[in-house]
Amino acid sequence: MSDKNLVVHGVHKRLGENDILKGVSFELRKGEVVALLGPSGSGKTTLLRAIAGLDHPDQGRIALGDRVLYDSGTGAAVPPEKRGLGLVFQSYALWPHKTVFENVAYPLRLRKVPAAEIRTRALAALSEIGLDGMAERYPHQLSGGQQQRVALARAIVYDPDLLLLDEPLSNLDAKLREEARVWLRELIERLQISAVCVTHDQVEALAIADRVLLLDRGKIEQEGTPQEMYGEPATLFSAEFMGSNNRMPGTLAEVRGQEGRLTGEGWELWGKVRGAVQPGGPATGVIRLERTEIGETPADNSIQATLETSVYLGERWDSLFLAGPLRIRAWTPEPPSQAARWVRFPRDSLWIFPA
Ligand SMILES: Nc1ncnc2c1ncn2[C@@H]1O[C@H](COP(=O)(O)OP(=O)(O)OP(=O)(O)O)[C@@H](O)[C@H]1O
Ligand SMILES: [Mg+2]
Repeated sequence: MSDKNLVVHGVHKRLGENDILKGVSFELRKGEVVALLGPSGSGKTTLLRAIAGLDHPDQGRIALGDRVLYDSGTGAAVPPEKRGLGLVFQSYALWPHKTVFENVAYPLRLRKVPAAEIRTRALAALSEIGLDGMAERYPHQLSGGQQQRVALARAIVYDPDLLLLDEPLSNLDAKLREEARVWLRELIERLQISAVCVTHDQVEALAIADRVLLLDRGKIEQEGTPQEMYGEPATLFSAEFMGSNNRMPGTLAEVRGQEGRLTGEGWELWGKVRGAVQPGGPATGVIRLERTEIGETPADNSIQATLETSVYLGERWDSLFLAGPLRIRAWTPEPPSQAARWVRFPRDSLWIFPA
């Protein structure tokens, strides 16, 4: 296992007129997998390229263990091929005219490894990713998922200290992708390697990572374990980025301890106040759809509503209720009855953020 921590400190990057990264800092502990999550254009690829050395930040410092890879202060910049990183980019860019074996062997040839050792290590890497017996095929003779694995084999063949993955599963269809993320997590654990994995898919981030960094417009909005990110979002942006949610704009009428009373046109709900929101100020309530409940009678913290429609999604029903201007959805294992008139928001599950 690599015992090297990655330290990224104060990384700024300007491209053209725009500040793309605005002082990003984080640490990756040995053996840890971090998912870099964020909307399109938030700077994920830019940050990964800076770590890989494909681009240089305007400011900041990047170190792997005791080696400084980049330091804008001293001008130190280790070239990409000397950084000891394994890269897998979005389009996994296999060489079409090289066999699978030659694709995987390439990084070793580049490093002038003796031929006999190349053979052993490339075949071992292929075996590691479950592609025994495919060494002599060409990329076009493989499925998308298999090509993906070859790209990973090429990244791990020289025992990098760190894997950098940019949307490694994005070329796969939904079903394959779901299988691949479990497989990828298992591979990273087995190799006991550290990895930074970029994705804009929050489920993928939760599945793959020990820790999630959520990037918004070039800044880290929040970082935490998957459970913290999903269960304890610190901001409205984090809350809405993860999961599927109901959103209730209103006014914070009153605060009692950790709880607050959110009011809107003809409704009021109690929830947990998160962040600095003043009584009397605009606020937004957010609740996950799977926490939203449906009932036939009024209950604590509920709103009267009419059932507009319900769709069957296999393992759950997704129902839409209307209450004045509010559109409220709920996921339930059973279809709602025709008598369902009340939507309940358990107090612990409703978060109230500054609007
Ligand atoms: N060469 C460039 N010149 C100017 N702006 C650029 C350049 N390359 C990227 N950008 C801008 O930098 C921002 C961040 O881009 P980046 O590729 O890092 O986003 P991303 O988070 O990886 O997005 P996606 O999820 O779509 O891949 C975007 O707004 C993009 O338009
Ligand atoms: Mg990108």
